[in-house]
Amino acid sequence: MGEPGRIAEMLAALEDDHERLGELGGRILRAIGANDVTMASGALVELQRAQAAHFRFEEGLMEEAGFPGRDTHAQSHDRLVAALDAINGALGAGPVSSLSQDLGDFIEASLKHISELDENFRGFLNDLLG
Ligand SMILES: [Fe+2]
Ligand SMILES: [Fe+2]
Repeated sequence: MGEPGRIAEMLAALEDDHERLGELGGRILRAIGANDVTMASGALVELQRAQAAHFRFEEGLMEEAGFPGRDTHAQSHDRLVAALDAINGALGAGPVSSLSQDLGDFIEASLKHISELDENFRGFLNDLLG
C-alpha cells in the first residue's frame, strides 16, 4: 500500500461520496420543510442506501490503507446507521414535521463525523502521500 495514484484515487472517491451524501441530506431537509412525506421517505431510503454503501466502501479503503483507527471509526458508522434507521422507522408514524428535529440532529452528527473522523483518515492518507 502507498502507491500515490491509488491514494489520490481514494481521496477523490471519498470527496465525491461525501458531497453526494450532503446533497441527499439537503434534499430530505427541504422535503421535511415542505411537509412532503412522499419525497422525504424516498430521499431517506436513498440516503440509507447511499450511506450504507459509503460506509462499506470507506471501511474497505481503511483496511487497504492500513488505517489504525478503522475499528473505532466503523463503530461510529454503526451508530449513524442505527440513528437513520430509527428516523426512517418513525416516518409515517406521525406528522412529518415532528421528524425535523431528529433529522436535524442526525445530519449534524453526520456532518461532524465527516469533518472530524473522516478528516482524520484523510489526514492519514495525505501523510502517506508525504
Ligand atoms: Fe466515516
Ligand atoms: Fe465518510
